[in-house]
Amino acid sequence: MVTTEEREGLDISQPIKIAPEIWWVGIVNKDTPFKCHAYLLYDGEEAVLFEPGPLANYPSIFQKVIQIVPLQSIRYIVLSHQDPDVCGSLPAWEKALASTPVSVVTHSRTAVIIKNYGLTSPFYLIDQKDWSLRLSSGRTLRFIFAPWCHSPGTFMTYDEESRSLFSGDIFGAITYKWSFYADQSYVMAMRSFHDDYMASTYHLRYAISKLTTLNIERILPQHGSIIDRDVLQYIQALRTSRCGLDLLCGRSSSAMMMKDAPLPATASDETSATMNYSGLPIGYRYIIARVIERETGVLGKEDALAVAREVDGIHLDSEGNLIGIYEKNGKDILNRLLKSYEERFGFWAVFNCRLMIHDLIREFGLAMPDILEEGHMLNIHVARQHKGQ
Ligand SMILES: [Fe+2]
Ligand SMILES: [Fe+2]
Repeated sequence: MVTTEEREGLDISQPIKIAPEIWWVGIVNKDTPFKCHAYLLYDGEEAVLFEPGPLANYPSIFQKVIQIVPLQSIRYIVLSHQDPDVCGSLPAWEKALASTPVSVVTHSRTAVIIKNYGLTSPFYLIDQKDWSLRLSSGRTLRFIFAPWCHSPGTFMTYDEESRSLFSGDIFGAITYKWSFYADQSYVMAMRSFHDDYMASTYHLRYAISKLTTLNIERILPQHGSIIDRDVLQYIQALRTSRCGLDLLCGRSSSAMMMKDAPLPATASDETSATMNYSGLPIGYRYIIARVIERETGVLGKEDALAVAREVDGIHLDSEGNLIGIYEKNGKDILNRLLKSYEERFGFWAVFNCRLMIHDLIREFGLAMPDILEEGHMLNIHVARQHKGQ
């Protein structure tokens, strides 16, 4: 198992033991912020492969798996949902395990779709097996239904023995500054991912509410970073996140979210005297602070703040807190900030926070920055719908 001292400098070309009898066997493609993780549980009698991943990852993951277990010990492949980044490699695995009695563990709603990969292996349908799987050793995996997070049959898996939660897309993130283990910035990267990939606040809260009775020591998501410290902090972050349809259509007030986020620092008297700051605690100033905070998680603090510091009209203190913006130019300043992130890091850098901005712009009754207006590639086509409804 990885000790605190060994957390830096991990050799990710090799399997990494993250808990007794549990290994990370994913690959890290440095060309994309969308990392896909696979995990292997092997308790000495049977092996369980979680989220085997896209077809392109198969050769590397296969090599890692056979370093740990003999192929014939793999009895189960767990698929939290049917996305190709979860199960695109299934046909290749099925071929490799042709002489092994392997079962595909998933929900009935997912199984009917996964069959389209041309599978012939039997399914272990969790919703027909009392939401649990008992291995021959007696070890029990419990399945936690998380419908529409983000597919109808989505579930998470809790290993009682190691108190590990294999969470699928939930607790995932898209990060430019990836680290194997989550750090403080991960909450923002995680929220950014859930904005778009989860159906709604209601659905996400339903899934998260199922975790409150579990004693979780670590969370192993399919994307992003492994969470093995301050687990409750990350659970609470998702419990208080708004996402999906709520951001798109303004369901439930963003004031709920604001309660959990500190407002931007207030300009000191000295700085206020020399710059014309907005005196409002909300508005563009608030949105700009939220964008910078979000980008800190997605792009890394250093890069996120470096870009913001170069934008005319934005004043950050030495810690990176937003001191203020020029009052009359809020829309233009927000637009310049987003354009700067897009120019420096590409489409994804703005795509990651556009739903949050749409939501806040609507909440505050402000004008949309040009980069998110209709006709621009980053628009999400809600402005016109709202005007007409
Ligand atoms: Fe997915
Ligand atoms: Fe995924």
